[in-house]
Amino acid sequence: MTNPSVDLEIAPITENDYDGAAAAIASGLVFQWYGMTHPVARDFVVRAATDSIVVVARVGGRVVGVAIFRADGPMPVRAYLRVLAVAEGSRGQGVGRALLRYVEEQAFQQGPNLFLLCVDRNTDARRFYEREGYHLVGALPDLGFEGITELLYRKTLGPIRGYVPRSNG
Ligand SMILES: CC(C)(COP(=O)(O)OP(=O)(O)OC[C@H]1O[C@@H](n2cnc3c(N)ncnc32)[C@H](O)[C@@H]1OP(=O)(O)O)[C@@H](O)C(=O)NCCC(=O)NCCS
Repeated sequence: MTNPSVDLEIAPITENDYDGAAAAIASGLVFQWYGMTHPVARDFVVRAATDSIVVVARVGGRVVGVAIFRADGPMPVRAYLRVLAVAEGSRGQGVGRALLRYVEEQAFQQGPNLFLLCVDRNTDARRFYEREGYHLVGALPDLGFEGITELLYRKTLGPIRGYVPRSNG
């Protein structure tokens, strides 16, 4: 699906974006299950900016989404998407897909795999990731919180051995 937001911009986060990024995260039901109120999400984003890559999606200059990931982990889990969130009122317009594509471009420069976790009850996000080419690896019950099962997903461009970094087309 093409992106209708002609003024959609994906860019590294700046200090001015922290509140917008926190608002996008706090608007997600799945993050609310983990206690991510706005102040908690803001602290999380500020910390993440020190040890991960944090990018935001802006439409008309306003932050509507955020992605937090690492692409420098040890093999075989070199790239891992920690958070993907689009503000509730901006979903279904291709913003999440644009953020994911940005993350994939970076991740697949480093290796052929990108991993992520998704809560099993988050059926909208599961459908989104599966349509974007992510395959279920397995279930991780009680990983972070008792009673919450995380699903490990992977998108792969092939085996690690012999992989030549390339753009994700
Ligand atoms: C999951 C999430 C990141 C997806 O972001 P998004 O911006 O809504 O995603 P997109 O718009 O790119 O695609 C989502 C849907 O909109 C549709 N869509 C994409 N572009 C569209 C457009 N221009 N017009 C209408 N619909 C469109 C897609 O087909 C897709 O449909 P689906 O329901 O079959 O999956 C977002 O829903 C979100 O933040 N959810 C809450 C937090 C969360 O669950 N994060 C994932 C944690 S693991």
